[in-house]
Amino acid sequence: MTAQLARKPENTGVMEIIRCDSSAQAERETAATLRRYITRTAKPALGLATGRTMLPVYAWFREWYRDGELSFANSTSFNLDEYCGLASDDPSNFVSYMRRNLFNHVDMEEGRFHFPEQTDPEAFDARIGDSGGIGLQLLGIGRNGHIGFNEPGADRNSRTHVVTLTESTRNANAGDFPAGTPVPEQAVTMGIATILEAQRIVLLATGNGKADILKRAFHGPVSSDCPASYLQLHNHVTVICDGAAAAHLGEPS
Ligand code: F6R
Repeated sequence: MTAQLARKPENTGVMEIIRCDSSAQAERETAATLRRYITRTAKPALGLATGRTMLPVYAWFREWYRDGELSFANSTSFNLDEYCGLASDDPSNFVSYMRRNLFNHVDMEEGRFHFPEQTDPEAFDARIGDSGGIGLQLLGIGRNGHIGFNEPGADRNSRTHVVTLTESTRNANAGDFPAGTPVPEQAVTMGIATILEAQRIVLLATGNGKADILKRAFHGPVSSDCPASYLQLHNHVTVICDGAAAAHLGEPS
């Protein structure tokens, strides 16, 4: 595992890139980073992500909770996004994903985890603000550079809002729905400004499918064409990746 610190010209902050020897090591390192934040903070406020990349991270949380090494009793969480138009108990929505993979298995009380709602997106930013803001935001990255569901073209100043998903995102997520069930066309997502207000951001990327977009996001220009590139404007980002995802990092753009 190697860590590299890059000082971005756009700001005075630090971006840390941690290249791990395997996806398993990257997943554990990500989980351990959140665990350190949770155990050292009186009232942790977590920003959480869904997607395939995060499944092993939540498996670590479940294991550490079972072993008595981690408690979520004092934590509050805010998930990045949710599909529009699905029933609240639809197994393909992100509430169900989080219950299945984390909340049903740990001491996170009902009422302490929050999801944006299409009926009142702005209320989500207010709720985050009322809690004192997100201390650590966990992110994955879409192959088209989306973070949350902020697709290419996303506005730097956007707050939680309803978005239309791109065809490529809907295709990428089709496997999370039963055969023949269409992926919703819309979703509600934290905006770029909402995400950038987190005190610290940890982005996990694994597999060679993320190699091109990681290079664009962190070695390319800050541009709405690649929403993840806005993370260069934040002053405390940690990118954790395996060798496959890091394959093009370090190459000139
Ligand atoms: C999920 C989310 C998305 C995913 C991204 C990567 O809450 O906000 O941005 O992180 O689509 O998904 P996977 O991990 O399935 O490749």
